[in-house]
Amino acid sequence: MKRICLSLLTVLMLASCTAAGPKPTRSDDPQRAANAYKTYPIVESLLRVMTLEEKIGQLVLYTSDWDVTGPSIRSGYVDDIRSGKCGNIFNAYTAEYTRKLQEIAVNETRLGIPLLFGYDVIHGFRTIFPINLGISASWDPELIEESARVAAREAAAAGLHWTYSPMCDICVEPRWGRISEGAGEDAFLGSAVSRAMVYGYQGADLSDPLTIAACVKHFAAYGAPHAGRDYNTVDMSERWLREFYLPPYKSAFDAGAQTAMASFNEYDGTPATANAHLLTEILRDEWGFDGFVVSDYTGILEMINHGTAADLAEASVQALNAGNDMDMQSGGYSEFLKKAVEEGKVSKKTLDEAVRRILTVKARLGLFEDPFRYCSEEREAAETKTEANLLAARTLAEESCVLLKNHNNLLPLTKGSSVAVIGPLADSADDLLGSWRGAGLPDGVKSILDGIKEQAGQVFYTPGCDMSNPSQKGFDEAEYTARRASTVIMVLGESCDWSGEAASRTSIKIPEVQAELLKRIAATGQPIVLVLMNGRPLDLSEESELADAILEAWFPGTMGGEAVARLLFGEASPSGRLSVTFPRNLGQVPIYYYAKNTGRPYVHPGAKYESRYLDCENTPLYPFGYGLTYTTFSYGKPVLSADSFGPTSSITAKATVTNTGSREGTEVVQLYLRDMVGSVTRPLKMLRGFERITLKPGESREVEFTITPEELSFWRKDMTYGPEAGEFRLFIAGDSSAEDFVTFTYNE
Ligand code: NOJ
Repeated sequence: MKRICLSLLTVLMLASCTAAGPKPTRSDDPQRAANAYKTYPIVESLLRVMTLEEKIGQLVLYTSDWDVTGPSIRSGYVDDIRSGKCGNIFNAYTAEYTRKLQEIAVNETRLGIPLLFGYDVIHGFRTIFPINLGISASWDPELIEESARVAAREAAAAGLHWTYSPMCDICVEPRWGRISEGAGEDAFLGSAVSRAMVYGYQGADLSDPLTIAACVKHFAAYGAPHAGRDYNTVDMSERWLREFYLPPYKSAFDAGAQTAMASFNEYDGTPATANAHLLTEILRDEWGFDGFVVSDYTGILEMINHGTAADLAEASVQALNAGNDMDMQSGGYSEFLKKAVEEGKVSKKTLDEAVRRILTVKARLGLFEDPFRYCSEEREAAETKTEANLLAARTLAEESCVLLKNHNNLLPLTKGSSVAVIGPLADSADDLLGSWRGAGLPDGVKSILDGIKEQAGQVFYTPGCDMSNPSQKGFDEAEYTARRASTVIMVLGESCDWSGEAASRTSIKIPEVQAELLKRIAATGQPIVLVLMNGRPLDLSEESELADAILEAWFPGTMGGEAVARLLFGEASPSGRLSVTFPRNLGQVPIYYYAKNTGRPYVHPGAKYESRYLDCENTPLYPFGYGLTYTTFSYGKPVLSADSFGPTSSITAKATVTNTGSREGTEVVQLYLRDMVGSVTRPLKMLRGFERITLKPGESREVEFTITPEELSFWRKDMTYGPEAGEFRLFIAGDSSAEDFVTFTYNE
């Protein structure tokens, strides 16, 4: 049996040498684009000989029992592989185990089509990088690409071919736990991040066994659930969707991402899982995506709960016909598609197209040439948590931290000084890793306390309280500890499982007991550095008054303990900038920098009939783009190369940035534009460029941005995309609250 199977696949392989098709997407890297869009005659040969059952098997994805990432587990997945009912597996890894499963698929099924192994490699596989919201705060696409490359190398060596990342969901809803998994609120920054991640995962050659296929998720608009409750209804205008939500997904596809995951939510009344407008009209017809779409977990089954399908059979038909090629875990395709095809509810053409897309990705990964090329015990040992990987994780952790406050330049602390370390998160190695930590383990990971011990002379430590248990039993000891040292470092925030999937909160404050602990320590008058770990923007209105310095560390990953300590003691300098607005309180939500002016903007202090709150300012506590450093920067007025341009030209804007402090520091120079009059309302500011620069004390640098019609483009009144003539304001500054601008005109 085994030999017959192998020879059939071999015959097909020989008869179908690979050929290159057109469709490059990325103009600056033809090599990468050409690779991504190779087409494979082996796929056509297989399609000609596959039975209906074999075809359906290729559309099926089941989880192994190695990891639990959803509500249902299927125990018989090994039998399903053997019987050809399941062509793809997720949540199984290690070279040894994936080889075992692959051997079953290759040697014990008629055609020997290799399995595809997927996993949630979200911010690292074994070496864990900061959570994605933290990563995006680095504003460093190159390092983000590197983090994805490291993750890919580690995962690929453990037998994985496919990661369910990047998560491209724009989010302005801090109650939603999954805001931690994305790149924040802005489409421009989000697009830079998603592009970088795809490049990192897929490299220049997907068949290189050190790269893995990316999966762009959750398509689409999953980041806008009503009231921030996970899986809840999403509704927004098509204009808002296209302008503020779709660009990061598109950017990932333009970078060559091979797969997409349909989101759990509905969009415009239809679950995304079976939403032909999203999965076919936009994704394929408009954007030219030629990879495959997978449902999110039991998304197909969930259409019954959504109320758009009476049963799983109907849901399966709707999903496949809408463009959802692969069924993750619901079992619907496996059980009902055969009959649906026989009855003509799904055409053979639709079925074949879905199979073709999936087999093509397998071919692009090189699996038909060598199904075992990804499972190598030697590579697994050599690639895992190498010094270089750990160093990349430490650097990105340092770049991700955002210094929110630094009263009297309390930070950096003097190396070798004495500190009191207080807080329930100070000695937690586990929380550092955040949610979705892949196969990353806390064993051997240094906590923030461990990191501090390497920098400080004397360290007094007590947790002070539990994460949320209201008991204040430890407060006396905490106060005593605080008084023993010259500075207090408090490590407070959320547990790592308070964000991520199914982890929404109705409060965005730190738990009350921790807030009380901070008050108690603040009453001692000791200087306090507050280090925060959390997966969402928090309401820090009280903490920002009580602490002298605040360092937002997110969940900084495997090397986070060291990274945070190095920042606190000045071995590294904070350079992160918020990728999401921090409100003054939850009542301001949704709050984001690209707000519209409204018909009644609040411009006259105290005016009644203007857009404002009675009990709170309109401005956020910390705006998008904000972050301090250990030095200061000044900005010269932007200088334009011309004050107008047209469709076939561009202008440049230059601003001189000077380090006006006494330490070297990194600034993220940000370019914002405002379109003063449009055929539809335009935001007060849109990020249209950024650059990280490092300057020595007293050093100046001219930073230049080019503005082309693309930077001015938007979805116009008639839903065409492009610029409109008129006046624009241009801001070059260190965050989105910038007020100084210069103007230019765009002429048609
Ligand atoms: C459900 C999550 O929404 C998705 O992000 C993840 O990739 C899948 N489960 C698989 O674990």
